[in-house]
Amino acid sequence: MGFALGATAAVGGVFTLVGMKKTWDPLPSVKAAGFTTVDLSVLSEGELRTVEWRKKPIFILKKTEQMGQSPTDIVADGSRYTVVIGLCTHLGCIPAFHKDEQKFVCACHGGQFDINGKNISGPPPRPLEIPPFAVDGTKLVLGEEGPEYKKMIEKA
Ligand code: FES
Repeated sequence: MGFALGATAAVGGVFTLVGMKKTWDPLPSVKAAGFTTVDLSVLSEGELRTVEWRKKPIFILKKTEQMGQSPTDIVADGSRYTVVIGLCTHLGCIPAFHKDEQKFVCACHGGQFDINGKNISGPPPRPLEIPPFAVDGTKLVLGEEGPEYKKMIEKA
């Protein structure tokens, strides 16, 4: 009886350790989700695309000449882009792009951001965040800290 209880406890302990190890290990999907590559050449001028990177919405706007220039523009293949994490810096809602007004508007508490992601009205305390990125020709690699990203962060 004592032997049987001891053996059961030992087997239970092994299963517990295996379970704990599985909990500690990152999921395969998390490891693979570190980088997202986006082909910018498919965007038209003035078009906004939303892609997912690390479970966050990323707004990519190909700017027209009328939208002007900003130090936070990402320049790739002669075009300028606004690339920001699409989560309001107030409480994290997803702002909507109002193309006709050329701004991002957060429906939760009325926060507004300009075409470059700068907070211009309402409660958001700072601009929309810029995700780490690298430019590779017409490709944008989200999650990689390229030289353009490091330079942009230095100036901020
Ligand atoms: S969460 Fe966007 S304004 Fe409050």
